[in-house]
Order: sequence, then structure tokens, then C-alpha cells
Amino acid sequence: MSAIRAAVLLLAALCGCDGSLRFASYYGDHIVLQKAPQRAVLWGYAPPGSKVTVSLCGPVKQRRACTAVTQGIWQVLLDPVDAGGPYNVTASTQFSTAVLTDVLFGDVWLCGGQSNMYFKTSQIFNASEELALSAKYPHVRTFMAALNSSETELIDLIQVELPWSVPSARILSEFSALCWLFGRYMYDKLKYPIGLVESCWGGTTVEAWSSAKALKQCGLQRTQDNPKENSSVLWNAMIHPFRTMTIYGAIWYQGEANAEYNKDKYNCSFPAMIDDWRRAFHSGSGGQTAGDFPFGFVQLCTYNKSAVDDGFPDIRWHQTADVGFVPNFRMKKTFMAVTLDLADEASPYGTIHPRNKQDVAYRLTLGARAVAYGEEEQLFQGPFPFQIWSSDTFVRINYDQAVSVKPSRDIFEICCSVTTDLCGSSSRWVPAAVVAWSPSAVQLNTSLCPPSAVAALRYAWRDWPCDVKACPVYGASSILPAPPFIIQKYEAGKRNFWRNG
Ligand SMILES: *[C@@H]1O[C@H](CO)[C@@H](O)[C@H](O)[C@H]1NC(C)=O
Ligand SMILES: *[C@@H]1O[C@H](CO)[C@@H](O)[C@H](O)[C@H]1NC(C)=O
Ligand SMILES: *[C@@H]1O[C@H](CO)[C@@H](O)[C@H](O)[C@H]1NC(C)=O
Ligand SMILES: *[C@@H]1O[C@H](CO)[C@@H](O)[C@H](O)[C@H]1NC(C)=O
Ligand SMILES: *[C@@H]1O[C@H](CO)[C@@H](O)[C@H](O)[C@H]1NC(C)=O
Ligand SMILES: *[C@@H]1O[C@H](CO)[C@@H](O)[C@H](O)[C@H]1NC(C)=O
Ligand SMILES: *[C@@H]1O[C@H](CO)[C@@H](O)[C@H](O)[C@H]1NC(C)=O
Repeated sequence: MSAIRAAVLLLAALCGCDGSLRFASYYGDHIVLQKAPQRAVLWGYAPPGSKVTVSLCGPVKQRRACTAVTQGIWQVLLDPVDAGGPYNVTASTQFSTAVLTDVLFGDVWLCGGQSNMYFKTSQIFNASEELALSAKYPHVRTFMAALNSSETELIDLIQVELPWSVPSARILSEFSALCWLFGRYMYDKLKYPIGLVESCWGGTTVEAWSSAKALKQCGLQRTQDNPKENSSVLWNAMIHPFRTMTIYGAIWYQGEANAEYNKDKYNCSFPAMIDDWRRAFHSGSGGQTAGDFPFGFVQLCTYNKSAVDDGFPDIRWHQTADVGFVPNFRMKKTFMAVTLDLADEASPYGTIHPRNKQDVAYRLTLGARAVAYGEEEQLFQGPFPFQIWSSDTFVRINYDQAVSVKPSRDIFEICCSVTTDLCGSSSRWVPAAVVAWSPSAVQLNTSLCPPSAVAALRYAWRDWPCDVKACPVYGASSILPAPPFIIQKYEAGKRNFWRNG
């Protein structure tokens, strides 16, 4: 029996499908469907052999027939519909009808990851003010998948946690704060409906959200002696079902769980997961979801103030495929919110769950505007080095943009080595104090290394590098922090921006 057929049978058993006409689980009243130029996909269940017709009633009218019901499933591709609504969508056979009311067309964003994506709007700073705003945003709609897992790829969700809703304080208090804030801020900019699909689970690793194919690319496939518990189980149950729906993009907040689990593979597993989701959603929607749909993510915030080397710096670096910023040649059409300066030492949910999700969402929307909506002038990345000059006694970093600098004795560190080996976490790192700066450069005192023995330089390379919004280097506007980096003098194969002067 094929996996798909098994999945269909399992579903039939789970939801007691009696062959009557229905939409798939994640279509419901108040849904936002993807607007033009993409075409929205609708699908559901019907008795084999019946003829299903879908009609759209609202600002424009449309009627489309489903070609065939195969294995009890029908599917229809609507013609492109401009942003707006409301519409009623009616599916009908000769004997029955199923209706979705109050349907809008806009952009659909999928929100995934672990507990910081799951973190509810009722838990953030200023929660009551945020919840009170819900009434002002009836066109930002929310949906949440239940927390379920599966050993095989499912075509539909096992269960819906929160059906599509017009936002209210009650609904939002249970909904992802980051997902909501991202959608609300994008609505303020775009002024058309936004559909938010939350599908995330606390404490989960990237492996759980990745298909077997994606894991195999990184040498993480299941083996007999390593039947890695949770590989693919959430991909199977909570992401794969959505591949049929047309979406605009995805945002993601995950990585904490990988700081101690396959950490050194994250520079492969995370980019591979993004590629794989894109392939799956593109083909699953018959080409409607872009094959390079925009993918935004949050670089890890902070967890343990006294930690020296707990994996967080490595994961932050690996989240960019070891480049330091995105988009880059390996991670095209991606955008990242840097948040290592948004620590929350007093969070009642643990320091790993900072309550300031407003700044995180805002930074993410800057990236979305630039990368996902083509606002070319929009600044969305903090300062990054484009050239390192080293002499016997100092190192000068030239940044790619104007910087705002506060002196620091130890946020920059240098690795002292006279060999050309790469410096790692076990190498000898010493602080390099900031001694001077100009509008776009920072000069460091390297006298703690022997002359000409600086082999690498790193910035903010610890779990908790600074206090809230008080890191030493920001862009000139002081909104976007410089992302952490590690740059090796002797690294082959990467753009070499190290010069001796
Ligand atoms: C959709 O259906 C509802 C309930 O049947 C009805 O009140 C409403 O007028 C319909 N809207 C449109 C746009 O047809
Ligand atoms: C799916 O998740 C819901 C809530 O998260 C849970 O109550 C239910 O038992 C799960 N179903 C299966 C089949 O795992
Ligand atoms: C992951 O595996 C662990 C142990 O094998 C189990 O306790 C946990 O419930 C699993 N989580 C998911 C999301 O399947
Ligand atoms: C990923 O990181 C590991 C550990 O730091 C490193 O050994 C490996 O070369 C990196 N792989 C890629 C593809 O960058
Ligand atoms: C934080 O880091 C310190 C120093 O490495 C360690 O002793 C402590 O156990 C860590 N705390 C947590 C909660 O991981
Ligand atoms: C909470 O509200 C106060 C008062 O309006 C504001 O100063 C603060 O920045 C808000 N906090 C966040 C995280 O947005
Ligand atoms: C650099 O640091 C060394 C050792 O800490 C100190 O003696 C020297 O004065 C510093 N140089 C500058 C230019 O600050």
C-alpha cells in the first residue's frame, strides 16, 4: 500500500469522512486565499464519480468545474482574484453543497518554528494594548494547526487548533504573537488582507520539520542504529498538508533546540529545509506558490547570560549558512531579523522566551518589504564588514554602511595564531578593545596578540553579548544591530576581504 493511500485511509478513519462533499480541513469561513497574480487552490472530499463545481460570489463572480474526483478528492484552481472581498465560495455536486463565507483574497504567510513562534500574544510586553487593537484589523485573519505528528506524509491536517478567524482579543491571546505582529505590521504597509497560518511546536528541532529527502542531503537520514526519534514527524503532519494551498511566503523562529542537537549540521539542514519546502509547495500547488517563495526567519535571541560556549553563537552563524547575513548565494530570497540585543532577563517564561516580540516582528517586516515586496530602498540589514585591514598593532573594520558605535573592551575578539589553521572554539581568543571609530569603520587594539599573529576576528560571539538595545555596533539610525560574525584570515574559498596594511 502506498504511503499516500495509507495517509488517505488514515485520514478517512480519523475524520470519519463518509464520502460527503467537504472542503479540506484548513479551508473555512473567514479564510484568506492567495490573491492575484497567483491562483488559489481549493480542494476537498467528495463521493468518487461525482462532479464538483466551485463558484465564487462577491465583488467578481467565477465558476469552475473540477475535472475529476480521484480517490475521493477533488481539486480546483481558481482564476486569479485581486485583493479584497468578501466572497462566498460554494462547492457543489448534484446532491449537496459546501460553503465558505466571508472569504478574502490577500497574501498568505505560513508561520513555523518552535516555542518563540508559538509564544502567545497574551504573553508579550504590552499584551493588553496589543489585544485591544484586534478590532482594528478585521482583514488580518488567523488559523492554527493542532500539534500533531505522523510517521508518513499526510495530505490533510489531523486536527485544527484554531479555525480561520476574524481577530478578537480572545482568539489572539491564544495565537502566535510574532505571526500576528508580522501580519498586522505588513497589513499597515500593504493595506490589503493578510492570512496567517500558524503551524509550530515548542522544543522542536529542524529535523522534525524536514522531509527525509532534505535530511539525507545533510547526512542526517535515519539509520537502523540511529532511529532518530522525531525526524520528519512534524513535516509530515503539520507542513506537508499545506503544500497544496497557495501561499505567498513563510516566517520561521527556531534553532534553540539545535544548539545541542546536530548543531554542526545546522548550516546544511536549515538551508536544505528551506529549499525542500519551496520545492514541495511549488509542486504541491501546481506551480502557484513561487518556487523561491520568500522565507524570513529570526536569528536566535539570548538564553544564558553566563554561558561561554553553549552553541547559540554557532547556530546564529549557521542560520545564515555561515555567511553572516542573508540573502546570500546559498540562501536566496531570505530575510532575517537579528535579535541578539533583545534579551529579557526577567521573563516569567524563562530567559529563552523574551517578551519583546514587537521589535522582532518589526525587524522582520523590514526584511519582508525589501526581499518579499521589492522595496529596493528599504534598509533591512545591520552593518557588516566588507574589508578588514590588519597591521602589527591594530585591526580596522570597514563596514558596508554608516555605523553608530559605543566603545567596548571585549565585544570584538581576535584569535592569536602563527599558523594558517582556521580558528575554532578551542583556539586562543583574546579581547580586542575598540580604540577609535569613524562614520563607517572601527579600529581595534590587537596588542594582546603577538604582532602580525591575528588569524581571525569575531564579533558578539557569545550567547548574551549585550544589554537590551545596547550592543556596541548599530547602523547609523541605531535601529538595526550589527549581526555577529567570525572572519578567518586564512579561509580559502570564501570572498577574501582581509588585507594587510
Ligand atoms: C454569503 O452568504 C451569506 C450567508 O448565506 C450571505 O448573508 C451573504 O450575503 C453572502 N455574501 C455574498 C457576497 O454573496
Ligand atoms: C492532535 O493534536 C490535538 C491537540 O494538539 C490532540 O488533542 C490530538 O489527540 C492529536 N491527535 C492525534 C491523532 O495525535
Ligand atoms: C520527540 O521524541 C521524544 C522522545 O523520543 C518524545 O518524548 C516527544 O514527544 C517527541 N516529540 C514529537 C513532537 O514528536
Ligand atoms: C558547517 O559547519 C561545520 C562546523 O562548524 C563545518 O565543519 C562545516 O564545514 C560547515 N559546512 C558547510 C556546508 O558550511
Ligand atoms: C549557563 O551557563 C553556565 C556557564 O557555562 C552554566 O554553568 C549553567 O548551567 C548554564 N545555565 C543553564 C540554564 O543552562
Ligand atoms: C510598551 O509600551 C510602552 C508605552 O507605550 C512603550 O514605551 C514600550 O516600548 C512598549 N514595549 C514594546 C516591547 O513594544
Ligand atoms: C592597546 O592595549 C595595550 C595593552 O592593553 C595598551 O598598553 C595600549 O596602550 C593600547 N593602545 C591603544 C592605542 O589604546
